[in-house]
Amino acid sequence: MAEHLSQSELDYPFKLMEYLNGFRISKAIFSACELGVFDLLLESQKPLTAGEVAQKLGTSGDGIERLLDLLVAIEILEVELMQGTAYYNSTDVANLYLAKSSPKSLHSLIIYHSQTTYPLWNNLVDAVREGKNQNEKTFGLPSEEIFSAIYRSEEEMLKFMGLMNSTWVIDGHDIATAFDLSCFKSIIDLGGNFFDGEIPSADLYILARIIHDWKDDKNVKLLKKIHSACNKGGGVLIAEALLFENRRGPTMVQTFSLNMLVQTEGKEHPPSYYTHLLTEAGFRDVQVYRTGKSYDAILALK
Ligand SMILES: C[S@@+](CC[C@H](N)C(=O)[O-])C[C@H]1O[C@@H](n2cnc3c(N)ncnc32)[C@H](O)[C@@H]1O
Repeated sequence: MAEHLSQSELDYPFKLMEYLNGFRISKAIFSACELGVFDLLLESQKPLTAGEVAQKLGTSGDGIERLLDLLVAIEILEVELMQGTAYYNSTDVANLYLAKSSPKSLHSLIIYHSQTTYPLWNNLVDAVREGKNQNEKTFGLPSEEIFSAIYRSEEEMLKFMGLMNSTWVIDGHDIATAFDLSCFKSIIDLGGNFFDGEIPSADLYILARIIHDWKDDKNVKLLKKIHSACNKGGGVLIAEALLFENRRGPTMVQTFSLNMLVQTEGKEHPPSYYTHLLTEAGFRDVQVYRTGKSYDAILALK
């Protein structure tokens, strides 16, 4: 990799080729997860040959060997040669984040990306052309009712919840500790029917990944409603992935914003958007905390 960086991209497009191949890397990890490779290697407690993995998972020997070899190349698995036979073993990272049984497992996030996000991104060209989500083309569901599409079956609803929970397993602690929340006695993690229903009074409202789903007018309406329901001295805690103010990154958040385009009516924003929105709704003292990870926190007071 280092020698690639020293060469001019014009001599040979190493970086470009790596980007172009990115989807294959993602899909290889997704497939290994769906096949149960990481769970098997964790449970077996000893390295396994490709033949043993194939036999236990009911796959072809050749297919699994190629998949395992790629996972070794990208340092998600390890391999050891014993008398000419390759024995595959998990790494600590795979055991912690990819095995289903780990408390820090990202398995549900991976399943969602593989089975729902991936087909949606297949229609990214149309999403960019039309400037709207692709729920209709991808799943035959109305593009206006984004959560009818996301919750189109019990199975999909559970998958989406699994995706949501996965991220809090790795990002939850940073968000929950970003600010001193000890002065707020009653806290509501906003759900229910927040656009049309009544919002109960509380000291603190948590809006985690809510604002990025909707258009500006709905966001202002929602925050104004929260402001009137909020107890004196209360506030609102927003958890979202923040763009840089100049929108030149982080790359991950830019990809999230395109994801919002293919799946919702919203987008990701820089901090100034939230400050503006919160101020317009009547909140003050807006504080922004960047975690340096996927999600950031914003606190504003009534
Ligand atoms: C992107 S998810 C975020 C879930 C959760 N706050 C988190 O961060 O893990 C958006 C949430 O908004 C909820 N939602 C969508 N429309 C809603 C509405 N009209 N009233 C209340 N909740 C709604 C969905 O059910 C979903 O749980």
